[in-house]
Amino acid sequence: MRQSDGDHGVVPDVYRLSPAFIPRSRYHSADYLKLEREQLFTNTWLAACRMEEVENPGSFLEFDVTGRSILIVRDGDGELRVFHNTCRHRGTRLATGRGRTGKLICPFHGWRWNLDGSINYVLDPEQFTASCLDDLTLMKVPFGTWGGWIFINLGDDPEPLDEYLDPLPNFLELLELDKMRLRWSRTTRVRCNWKHSLDAFSEAYHVAQSHPQLVRKDHERTNPPTLRELENRYAVEAQPLGRHSRWQFRPRPGSYSRLTDDLDLLANRIEYVARAGFTFMEQDVELADSLRGKQVPENMTGRQYFLSLRADHMRRSGIEWHELSEAELSRSEGNYLCYPNMIIDVVTQGVALIHRAFPDGDDPESCLFETSVLQLQPEETREHPSTVEPEFYDDWRDFDWGPILNQDFNNMEQMAAGGRSSAFLGHNINTVQEMMLYYAHETADHYLFGAPLPERKVVG
Ligand code: FES
Ligand SMILES: [Fe+2]
Repeated sequence: MRQSDGDHGVVPDVYRLSPAFIPRSRYHSADYLKLEREQLFTNTWLAACRMEEVENPGSFLEFDVTGRSILIVRDGDGELRVFHNTCRHRGTRLATGRGRTGKLICPFHGWRWNLDGSINYVLDPEQFTASCLDDLTLMKVPFGTWGGWIFINLGDDPEPLDEYLDPLPNFLELLELDKMRLRWSRTTRVRCNWKHSLDAFSEAYHVAQSHPQLVRKDHERTNPPTLRELENRYAVEAQPLGRHSRWQFRPRPGSYSRLTDDLDLLANRIEYVARAGFTFMEQDVELADSLRGKQVPENMTGRQYFLSLRADHMRRSGIEWHELSEAELSRSEGNYLCYPNMIIDVVTQGVALIHRAFPDGDDPESCLFETSVLQLQPEETREHPSTVEPEFYDDWRDFDWGPILNQDFNNMEQMAAGGRSSAFLGHNINTVQEMMLYYAHETADHYLFGAPLPERKVVG
C-alpha cells in the first residue's frame, strides 16, 4: 500500500487510510489533533482574513490559529504587514481583536513599534544589554493574497502561495472573488471535530435526507423524504484539484432541476435559498419576483433566460457584472475545499458562502466554525471600507442560522456523537460523491507523516 512504501513516509496503523475508508481516530484522537496543530496548521497556507477587513491605514486585526496569535496590519503607507503578535520584551500580546492605531503599544511596559514593525520606543533603554537592543523589529510572518483573502503561513520556508493554491485560482478566476465584499461573518463553537464541520459541506450526498425541502417543490415542507424523493436527486461528483478539491452538481435527466423552465418554481426556489441558504443575493430576490407569470422565450432554455435577465438586473443595481457563458459558469461553480480549512461554496455567480473551521484548543471533539457571505456589490458600496462586525456565538443554537445551516449543524454534532462509539471503526466513503473527504486526508498524510503529495489528475 502506498502509505507504507519505502521512502513515502509511514502512516501509523491507527491512522492509516485504506481505499475509501477513513479511520475514526483521525477525528477523535487527541494525539492526532496534536499532530494537526503542530504540523498541519503550521505548514499550510491559511486564509487569515479579507483584505477589506484591514483596508484603512492603521487598521489591524488579530488572527488566532491553534493558540498562535498573528497580527495583520495596514501601515501608514497602505502596505500590508503581518507579524507574530508577541512583544520583543517579554512576549506579551501587542494587540487583541481588531481596530485602528498609529503605533503598536505593548500594554505591559509600553514599548512601541511603528506599523512597519520597526521599534519606536523603549522605556529606560540604558538599563538593557546592547545585544538585546540590537534588533527589536517585530517578527514577520510570510503572507500572500489571493481572491481578496490574506493568507499566512507559519512554516519556516514555505513554498510560494500560488504554487500551493494551484490550480484553484484557475477555476475560480472568472467568479471575481477578489471583487466581492464581506456581508456578514458569524463564528460559533460546535461539539465536533473541526473536520466534521467541513465534511458537512464537502459532499451533497446528504442533501435529500438532511435537507428534504431542497428536493421538493414546496420548500417549507421539511418532513423526511420518501424513497422516491431520496433518489430524485442531482448527481454530484467530487474532483481533486491538487491539494484541494471540489464537488459540482450534475443535474440528472428528469430530476427536479435547480434552474427549471417553470419560472414560478424558479422564483420560489431563489427566494427560499436566498433566505435559507445564502447562496443567492438580495438582488436575485427582486429579480425572482419579476419572473412570476413570465414564460421562457422559445429559443432559450430557462437557465439561459434567467442568466440574461440576471445580468441586466445586476447592472441596473450598479454592480459591474461580467456575463459568463453557461460553459464558463459550469467550469467555475462548485463547492471547493481550499485545503486545509476553508470551503468556498459558489452556487451561482456573484455570491460565495464561505466556511472556515479551526480546532478548539486541544479538544478533538470541539471546533470553532465560521460562516460568512461574500457578494459582488455596487461600486459606491465597494469603495467604503468593510464595516462588518464579526459575531460570535458560544453555542450554534444561540442563533437562528436558517433551516439549511441549522440542519447541517445538527448533522455535525450527531456525526461526532455517533462516531464516539468504539463500535464505529471509521468512515466508509462513497467513491464518487464523498471523495473530497478522502482527498483531504491523503493531503494531510503529506504534512503529518511525510507522505508524498498525492498525484491526482485534474479534471476540467
Ligand atoms: S512585555 Fe511588552 S513592553 Fe514589556
Ligand atoms: Fe448540508
